[in-house]
Amino acid sequence: MIPLYAEMQLTDLDTVADAEQRCHGFPWTRGNFYDSLAAGHGAWLAREAGHMTGYAVMMRAPDEAHLLNITILAELQRRGRGSALLHYLFDQARAWGATRMLLEVRPGNASGLALYRCHDFSEIGRRRDYYPARGGREDAIVMARAL
Ligand SMILES: CC(C)(COP(=O)(O)OP(=O)(O)OC[C@H]1O[C@@H](n2cnc3c(N)ncnc32)[C@H](O)[C@@H]1OP(=O)(O)O)[C@@H](O)C(=O)NCCC(=O)NCCS
Repeated sequence: MIPLYAEMQLTDLDTVADAEQRCHGFPWTRGNFYDSLAAGHGAWLAREAGHMTGYAVMMRAPDEAHLLNITILAELQRRGRGSALLHYLFDQARAWGATRMLLEVRPGNASGLALYRCHDFSEIGRRRDYYPARGGREDAIVMARAL
């Protein structure tokens, strides 16, 4: 089924925050999504037959788009939906005038790293102690891709 993409609304936040809890080891809170919308970041839902299958949040910067969150519901992963959503984000970022997409990912996030490598992101650096982790902090791998 071809997904439909729509801008995330305040009324979606309970559903999104609930999915986030189930899909991430260190989930964003509802307040994090609220703050993203309030800050004017791009935020979209993917839907199939009216049901949310995933979502993404992306920040706009001069010439660049910074991918902050991309999630596909756990039970629907590994069937191409993450790739499709990422391609939609590439189009959105190009429409903003961005020539590069940036993101951070945990070194231990195998699915995230695999998705990004599969779509030509390459590592451009590390941010030390960027993420909270069990018993301390975890570095972030910074990745980028031309658009
Ligand atoms: C990362 C994520 C969005 C990928 O979504 P997805 O729908 O599973 O991705 P796709 O099915 O389009 O996968 C595309 C390719 O990425 C790679 N990949 C994705 N998940 C993988 C995994 N768990 N292990 C190994 N490779 C993986 C594969 O090469 C895959 O192609 P293939 O299935 O033909 O082998 C999804 O796993 C997710 O929501 N994870 C939890 C949230 C998260 O960590 N988001 C990223 C950081 S914010």
